[in-house]
Amino acid sequence: MMRRTTVLVAGAGGQVGRRLLASAPREADVVACDRRALDIADAAAIGPALERIQPDVIINAAAYTAVDRAESEPEVALATNATGPENLALAARELGARVLHISTDYVFDGRGSRPYLPDDQTGPLGVYGRTKLQGEAAVIRILSARATVVRTSWLYDAQGHNFFNTMLRLMSERGSVRVVNDQIGSPTAVGSLCRVLWKFALAGNLGGRIYHWTDGGAASWFEFARAIARQGAARGLLADGVAVTPISTFEYPTPARRPPYSLLDCRSTVSALGLSQRPWEEELGTVCDELAALRRH
Ligand SMILES: NC(=O)c1ccc[n+]([C@@H]2O[C@H](COP(=O)([O-])OP(=O)(O)OC[C@H]3O[C@@H](n4cnc5c(N)ncnc54)[C@H](OP(=O)(O)O)[C@@H]3O)[C@@H](O)[C@H]2O)c1
Repeated sequence: MMRRTTVLVAGAGGQVGRRLLASAPREADVVACDRRALDIADAAAIGPALERIQPDVIINAAAYTAVDRAESEPEVALATNATGPENLALAARELGARVLHISTDYVFDGRGSRPYLPDDQTGPLGVYGRTKLQGEAAVIRILSARATVVRTSWLYDAQGHNFFNTMLRLMSERGSVRVVNDQIGSPTAVGSLCRVLWKFALAGNLGGRIYHWTDGGAASWFEFARAIARQGAARGLLADGVAVTPISTFEYPTPARRPPYSLLDCRSTVSALGLSQRPWEEELGTVCDELAALRRH
């Protein structure tokens, strides 16, 4: 008989949470908890909830992800991104459960010149990255070998609030967009991240480590936007000929500073899970196809 694994997904109402539910493998008995069902910042609520659910694995997809707003709401970001994972880890330790925690490229300062390795020096530039880094550290400190942290970057999906959907909307409304060309990262489809998260969730104990996962290759936000315009037009999501103009970060000031370079070296994940990365342009094609199909129905 197939061994079943009970997996609690915290933050099940978010972009990653929803896709995790939609892509759950057969061996997983998934218990979905959105913020209303489980507020990870509420320490008193977590113990009883976990006691009832008895998860083998908790995937923490809950986070405060508003990078700019975090600068003016540091306490809320801290409660969600640092105290929340700490609460989950403490309750998981009581049950002997594992925690798979999602983190971000924004823990780095972006002054590197080669893709960041999981153990490279961190140096977050803002409240979001700082609180996410605290969350990673708490989960590993409390659970050691029963914690796995997966950092990823520049997530987008056919649904949800993300750069891809914002660009499609602005391109349709305005016919032209100006996009930052001096921040380099790896656009990553949420579906690609979720394939990796499920592999980790079912892989057993991988030893208190941080892993990286992004789609293959590199792009600036401008290059990503240009590809969205091209691939979107090819699938009828947009008119042809949207003008995409490169600008500098200086010309688009935001409350939070972002790393100018945040490529993540994913080789340890590739070898731990026996996977390969697909180029981000190919994953973008898959997401555009999915959106085109959604719009047809
Ligand atoms: N988006 C990216 O580009 C990106 C890049 C790198 C890493 N990540 C990481 O990927 C993970 C998933 O992000 P995402 O893109 O799916 O973000 P998202 O769409 O903003 O989802 C986060 C979810 O967490 C929920 N949440 C917030 N506070 C909570 C709390 N106290 N208790 C329980 N749930 C709470 C949110 O609910 P409400 O909607 O009610 O607030 C939302 O449903 C996060 O760890 C994020 O840091 C994201």
